Amino acid sequence: MAVQISPSILAADFARLADEAAAVPNADWLHVDVMDYHFVPNLTLGLPVVEALRKATDTPLDCHLMIADPDRWAPQYAEAGAGSVTIHAEAARAPIRTLREIRSLGARAGLALNPATAVEPYEDLLPELDMLLLMTVEPGFGGQRFLDGVLPKVRRARDLIARHGGRIWLQVDGGVDADTIERCAEAGADVFVAGSAVYGASDPEAAIDKLRAAADRAIS
Ligand code: DX5
Ligand code: ZN
Repeated sequence: MAVQISPSILAADFARLADEAAAVPNADWLHVDVMDYHFVPNLTLGLPVVEALRKATDTPLDCHLMIADPDRWAPQYAEAGAGSVTIHAEAARAPIRTLREIRSLGARAGLALNPATAVEPYEDLLPELDMLLLMTVEPGFGGQRFLDGVLPKVRRARDLIARHGGRIWLQVDGGVDADTIERCAEAGADVFVAGSAVYGASDPEAAIDKLRAAADRAIS
């Protein structure tokens, strides 16, 4: 699978989201971090902002739900036009039902795992997934340091995915920059979320090109 870059608007200017989306025409996705003050100790945005953003850009939205009740809310993000909706395994009470609902509404279904959550217990859920997201920081805030300790899990996840036909995308999120992206790509990730490394750069579009080139180099 070709490398995909999903810049996180958490590091963008929330007062100018349409402009910030337009600043990254080379992005494959826009990563939208939804936080609710319960699953994580931070609050960001919700459905109304996703609906507005959907109208303001053609770039597909990659919604990462860091919320306490994803079973209740995730389908509405699919209905709002998100191209991909990712729920956390630690929060979902009926992940299979919710993932199926996301898919039936036409979005890609993703499952996210915190750094300390093992991937092996979720092997039987892989057929329900279009993407597995491995957090490489504790969720809640941008600008944190990449956790190298997650890399062995990225490798194990890549092996599990290969055993299940290799169809599922493997996303990493947190502390991904021009340096750490190489280690993630070598370990088997193919979708890369980057907040500060893109929106903290003076030229976000050039930053994406740089990240993509570094990941491509690491894989080849
Ligand atoms: C963290 C969020 C990330 C965050 C990444 O909880 O899920 O998507 O925006 O930001 P950086 O790339 O700055 O670590
Ligand atoms: Zn995220």
